[in-house]
Amino acid sequence: MFKGRHLIEPDGFTVAELEEIFRLADSIIDTPDTYSEKCKNKLLASLFYEPSTRTKFSFDAAMLRLGGQVIGFSDPNTSSAAKGETLKDTIITISNYVDIAVVRHPLEGTAKLMAKHSLVPIINAGDGGHQHPTQTLTDLLTIRYYKKTLNNHCIAVCGDLKFGRTIHSLVKAMSRYEGTKFIFVSPEELQIPSYIKEYLDPSCYEETNSLDDAIEKADVLYMSRVQRERFVSEYEYQRLKDYFILTHEKMKKAKDDMIVMHPLPRINEISDEIDTDKRAVYFQQAKFGMYVRMALILKLLGLE
Ligand code: NCD
Repeated sequence: MFKGRHLIEPDGFTVAELEEIFRLADSIIDTPDTYSEKCKNKLLASLFYEPSTRTKFSFDAAMLRLGGQVIGFSDPNTSSAAKGETLKDTIITISNYVDIAVVRHPLEGTAKLMAKHSLVPIINAGDGGHQHPTQTLTDLLTIRYYKKTLNNHCIAVCGDLKFGRTIHSLVKAMSRYEGTKFIFVSPEELQIPSYIKEYLDPSCYEETNSLDDAIEKADVLYMSRVQRERFVSEYEYQRLKDYFILTHEKMKKAKDDMIVMHPLPRINEISDEIDTDKRAVYFQQAKFGMYVRMALILKLLGLE
């Protein structure tokens, strides 16, 4: 049963439950019109305390395409947060008005705290440098579509592995699938945190600072931007921001059927010239994000 549950971390659902969500997303992709009234009279609160393009718009579009409606803010300065209201009081109030709420916040643990006090399902749309489970639903649906299975892939994850919440969630989720191998590609300063490595068997991953070495072995290359807003020092950010740039030249070493993913926004880490490479799937990935969020909303509202 999904109805009434929250989604705070990627392992909030079992592998079997994830497959149920993906099957529903498949069906929505095939016959979207069948779902266009499912959320009639339902209201989603979209509470964005941090900037967003894809996550916010795809949630809004998902709810509207299901026939529901959306209220919320994308600038917390227009809410009572600016007057000093606590997150607890905010969510107790808002959850009286809506059927489901999506929250993004710069502080780790916010969605969990809100879920504790909410009367309706809370979906974590990113809590600081911690987790981003709906990006992971998007990522898994994308891998499953292009690779036909979620088992037995070598996934090279490249960029800011320290602060990248999409990466933390992806690793946690993919570690549950059979035969997954990770290559963590980052400068030493931005290595994957040990609390994430603890989920993994040491024989299932390697760490390197060489994208050239990793790209030859990868079935999936997951690029990410250096997370400027989480740096204490602007100088450090400037020093590390262009550490990896994916170019045609680098892609020559990649397998023919490797896919290049990115949660977006891209800054400099994938050269524009890659956009026309048939292996670049990041814009399609963003589109899958809307469909999988439609499936998630339906499941959590028990409206399938
Ligand atoms: C990501 C995020 O917000 O963590 N963006 C997204 O939701 N697609 C990645 C990022 O900002 O780098």
